[in-house]
Amino acid sequence: MTKPVLIAVAWPYANAEIHVGNLTGSYLPADIAARYHRLKGNRVLMVSGSDAHGTPITVRADAENVSAETIYKRFHEGFLDLYQQLGITYDLFSSTHTDNHFRVSQAIFLSLLENGFLYTATEKQWYAPSQNRFLPDRYVEGTCYICGFAGARSDQCDKCGNLLDPALLLEPRSKIDGSTPELRETEHHYLDLGKLQEDVVDFLKTRESYWRPNVLRQSLGQILANGLRGRPITRDLDWGIPLPLEGRDSKRLYVWFEAVIGYLSASIEWANLTGQPDAWRDWWENPEAQTVYFIGKDNIPFHAVIWPAQLIGTGTQFNKHFGTAESGKKLTLPYDVPANEFMNLEGEKISGSRNWAVWGRDFLTRYDPDPLRYYLTTNMPETRDADWDWEDFYKRNNDELVATWGNLANRVLSFTVKQFEGKVPDPGPLTSLDEEMIKMVETGFETVAAEFEAVRLRSALGEAMRLASEVNRYLDQTAPWKEVKVDRAAAARSVYTALRCIDSLAILLAPFLPHTSEKLHGYFGYTQPLFGTQYTETVTDSLGEHTALRYNPAPEGIRWIPSQLQPGQALQQPLPLFKKLDPSIIEEERGRLGKG
Ligand code: MF3
Ligand code: ZN
Repeated sequence: MTKPVLIAVAWPYANAEIHVGNLTGSYLPADIAARYHRLKGNRVLMVSGSDAHGTPITVRADAENVSAETIYKRFHEGFLDLYQQLGITYDLFSSTHTDNHFRVSQAIFLSLLENGFLYTATEKQWYAPSQNRFLPDRYVEGTCYICGFAGARSDQCDKCGNLLDPALLLEPRSKIDGSTPELRETEHHYLDLGKLQEDVVDFLKTRESYWRPNVLRQSLGQILANGLRGRPITRDLDWGIPLPLEGRDSKRLYVWFEAVIGYLSASIEWANLTGQPDAWRDWWENPEAQTVYFIGKDNIPFHAVIWPAQLIGTGTQFNKHFGTAESGKKLTLPYDVPANEFMNLEGEKISGSRNWAVWGRDFLTRYDPDPLRYYLTTNMPETRDADWDWEDFYKRNNDELVATWGNLANRVLSFTVKQFEGKVPDPGPLTSLDEEMIKMVETGFETVAAEFEAVRLRSALGEAMRLASEVNRYLDQTAPWKEVKVDRAAAARSVYTALRCIDSLAILLAPFLPHTSEKLHGYFGYTQPLFGTQYTETVTDSLGEHTALRYNPAPEGIRWIPSQLQPGQALQQPLPLFKKLDPSIIEEERGRLGKG
């Protein structure tokens, strides 16, 4: 049975390059899950884009004295390059700076307004008299009034994770010139979260049995302890999405209000680009669809509380305000929000500004993509913070990827090509040892799948690699390389058995190691690829042009099934799947850290 699965991936702020912490936090696990569901034959839609608005972008633009548009386009292009190299296969990676996203966001705003979930209020916000302007969100930093952290931003504290009331920030200072701002009154629209609280709690309770504890703590736990209060969803800024109302020209939608709407707008954009304008409804107007949000822990309140509140508050009004055929249906609420914790680097917090980071694109100038995907998965911060350690990377590459998996595949394929005329040998009747081996790997299609369904990717990979070690043990026992000289039939049996297992393992590992699994799949003589291909496309709309990343799926079919390898199938001479690394890289890489 195939089901619609929406892989909703955090939208990176287009104000910095992507590092390994960002990758392992959300983009990589999302891609691994998407590839698994595609192999299963599910109807996957994986969407995201550049988060192009708000103060994260304008603060950087101001500092460089260039336009916000220049900043967002520069980093957006870098994201597309990285995602293609690493194989993060978005069906659509777009941007929030598109005409479509503006209209979808405005339609959600109007739906909430019509349903009575928005109100206006005048409150005090930070203002810089010297510059005659308000200083929203990241324009002001100071001390967190909850945990005392001195580097808190006025809207959110990175230390304790709380969303803050800017006016309560202690010792505020302007990000622009360090001056002390003053509070001034300004009128904004607020999302009436108090009114939505009961429905949000009811929704969260339906997820209580399977969501990660940290996500529940920061959603249901927080609400039950503190309740929900209205939050302003507009800002005094000129970069961003205008309000769909008269007389509000100096205001823009709050970046967090509109960015989460991107999941819906990108799905609609994708549907239009593929020429099936109603296709987005399979995920968004279908309670059976599984919508899974891959995010880092600092994003939890926005995805597990506020976004569900926005969806609930929109009710059935979206199509009416967007101008699409009314369906009377509500929008699908998140099925799961498997937020990850953070990854540190060599024991210290990753910091872009100090260059204490391993940057995705820089890494890929020296290493291949699959070792990065492998290491980041073995070390994924699913339940607690993790640490990138170069020595650990080196060891896992050599001891696990190369020794356990790459050599296994390479050795058996090369041996078959040499000793059995490049064809899968006819094994004759299998022994019980052979049969048990095949069976053990075949159970992986259930045990590994169960880990995928629960989004425990570390454990899914661990289980697949454990099976690979079992095949190595089997080969140590049956030793076809020796046996071939004394008992060719016995050698044929164990080679056949090992090939069946390796063929299955290539699939089990494919979501993690798509590039090398695809190669290996080819060495087995298959002509149908496991995965589709990525490409970029330039889209023009009323706001200008943006480059989108797209995905052309593989021919339909369920590939998450045990090997059906038949005797006689012609194999190809394999090349090594992975490179052994020299230990000198450890000190070399450590030496790069923290340097300008
Ligand atoms: N730009 C945010 C970040 O990098 C994530 C936004 S996710 C979205 O932390 F859904 F709101 F777009
Ligand atoms: Zn704090």
